[in-house]
Formats: sequence, structure tokens, C-alpha cells
Amino acid sequence: MDVMTNISLKQYTTMKLGGETRYMATADSAGDVVSLYRNARKENLPIFVLGGGSNVITHDEVFEGIVLLNKIKGFEVISETDETTDVKIGAGEVWDEVVEKAIGLGLQGIEAMSGIPGTAGAAPVQNVGAYGQEIADTLISLEAYDSKTDTIVTIYADECDFSYRNSIFRDKEKGRYCILNITLRLNKAEPKPPYYASLQRYIDENDIREVNLSVIRVAVLNIRSEKLPDPAELPSAGSFFKNALVEKWKLEELQREYSDIPNYAMSDGRYKIPTGWLIDKAGLRGYRSHGMRVYEKNALVLVNDSATGYDDLAAIREEIVQIVFDKFGIKIEQEPLELSR
Ligand code: EPU
Repeated sequence: MDVMTNISLKQYTTMKLGGETRYMATADSAGDVVSLYRNARKENLPIFVLGGGSNVITHDEVFEGIVLLNKIKGFEVISETDETTDVKIGAGEVWDEVVEKAIGLGLQGIEAMSGIPGTAGAAPVQNVGAYGQEIADTLISLEAYDSKTDTIVTIYADECDFSYRNSIFRDKEKGRYCILNITLRLNKAEPKPPYYASLQRYIDENDIREVNLSVIRVAVLNIRSEKLPDPAELPSAGSFFKNALVEKWKLEELQREYSDIPNYAMSDGRYKIPTGWLIDKAGLRGYRSHGMRVYEKNALVLVNDSATGYDDLAAIREEIVQIVFDKFGIKIEQEPLELSR
């Protein structure tokens, strides 16, 4: 296991911003993870686990700790019934390759999450989701190194406190666990409607008669390429803001002024309002400031054209948050995690 020193984090995050980490180490196995944490504890160094870096924002000052690159591999069918197949996946697997393999095996449950950048181990952290599916729907358990008890533990889905783009891993137990592998329960049945609205629209517009897993994958990849910049070409972190969750009275108040406001009822009685719509309606689509830009094709995305540091990002973020608040009375929140001491 190599430990490197003074590594720039720019190349390790898709937003391509930020400073150096004092140490960086690659973990290929659970054993690597355990020994890294034990050594870090002796030296009193914090550890930040990084997957693909597609949902992480780094600060400019040196991170006085260890960035752990999780490269634990594996894709293994561990059990099956007539209807379902359980697959155990190493946390360091590239998420989209996992989706591709599952589709290749005829397994349904994650195909709408095609094209999401990042690793399998990062997926539960913010309960990734797209086009009507989220990881909480298929994850049954995961194994993680628990830095509090210095043991490897199994955590079941109902212990993860999954909600919209959230879990214990980025909320109340932030920094405690390093996810080693995840187990998904996928279905042998073919996908069935109803499909997510934009997916259905694509199916109709392209006159697709027979929908199967591969058709959904291609559709999602095409829809995404229209709305989300390819991180290899334009630095970004996907959706930069979470969608807004508001009470019913607030939605009704907004509807009096904006009758066309898109909204989705949540199971907890609140309503989700697309933040992309709020930013767009506030006139900020294509807005440029501090070397950053609100993406023309999707106002929820911030693109880094020539920003030189975290402060540039923070500056445009504060401008957008303030303008949206002044117009709608909603305080929008950043979605990507931050790597800082
Ligand atoms: N909209 C606008 N203007 C914009 C952008 C969006 O009016 O500039 C409107 C759209 O017309 C639509 C609504 O906002 O009515 C929602 O847009 P969309 O369906 O594209 O999805 P989203 O809510 O913006 C979420 C996820 C994405 C995920 C898509 C598809 C979050 C923060 N984002 O975006 O996830 O791919 O749904 O399911 O939940 C990510 O998390 O990084 C991400 C890309």
C-alpha cells in the first residue's frame, strides 16, 4: 500500500478545484483500510474517504490528514431466488460499470441510474438517485470499517436512515465509517411502467415500442448527456444544489404567483421543488461570476471555467443562494460534500 505526500486534489475531484492533501493512500482491500485507520489514529490524523471525487468540493488550504482512495474491487452474485439476485459489490468499483454488469445479467433495479459518475461505495452516502430510482430501493446491507469501534460491521438498509440525498454517512455518523462493499437485491423481472416523466417522454418521442433494461440505459445516457456536462470535458460536480423541500403552505404561497411551478409530493407531506427551476426562474441560467458559470443547459449545475480556488466557488454560491432567497423565500443548500479539516 503506497502512501504519497503533498498531492494536489484538483485531479481527484471532477470540479477541479482546491489545494493539496498532506497524505494520500490507496486501499485495495479491507485489510488496507483497517491498517490505514490504525496508523492514522496513532499519528492523530483525520481520514477522508474519496471515491470518484464527483460529489466532493475541496478547500484551498492543505488537508492535514489522509485522503483514502477506495479501490476495493469485486462484483459477486451471493444468493438468488426465483425473483431476485443479491450482488455484493466492492466499494471501489466504478458505479456505471456496475450498472452495465447488472444489465448484462438481466437484473433490474439500477438501470435508471446509468451514467452517474463515481463509485459504488459512494452511492449510499448521499443516497444517489436518478430517473425514479435511488440506491435505497435496492441496497439491503453494506459492510464498513467502523473507526469508532475499530471493527468491521454490517449495516442494514433500515439503519442507514436514507432520505432524499441523505443517510447517516453524511449526516449524524459523518466520518465514522469507511464503506467496504455494498449488497444490492436486484430483480429478475423486466422493467415495468410507470417510468419517470422525462424517461417516458424520451420513449414516446423516439417511438420506442419495447422497453427493456438496455433501452432504459441508452435513454438515460442520452437524456443525461443533454443536461449534465461530461466531467472529462467541463469540470462540475453534477447537481450543485439539492432540490428544495417545502411545507404545503409554502408551495401554495408560491403557486399563487407562479402557477406553473413544478413540484412533487413527498411521503412526509412536504413538496419537492426543483432548484434548477428556481435558479432558472431567477434569471441565472448562464450567469457567470468568479470564473464559475451556471450551466446553460441545466441551471442546477455549476461549471468551473477558470476559478482559481474555493473562494470563487463560495462567492457564486452565496450570490445564487441570496438571489433565490430574495425571490422565493427559499434557502437552497449545496449538494456535494466538502473535504475540509
Ligand atoms: N428545470 C428548469 N430549468 C433548469 C433545470 C431544471 O426549469 O435549468 C426544471 C425542469 O424542467 C424540470 C425540473 O426542473 O421540470 C426538474 O429537472 P430534472 O428532471 O432535470 O431533474 P432535477 O430535479 O434537476 C434530479 C437530480 C439529478 C438526477 C435528475 C434525474 C438532485 C439534486 N438532482 O435533478 O441528480 O439526475 O433528478 O432524476 O436531486 C445529482 O445528484 O448530481 C444529479 C445529477
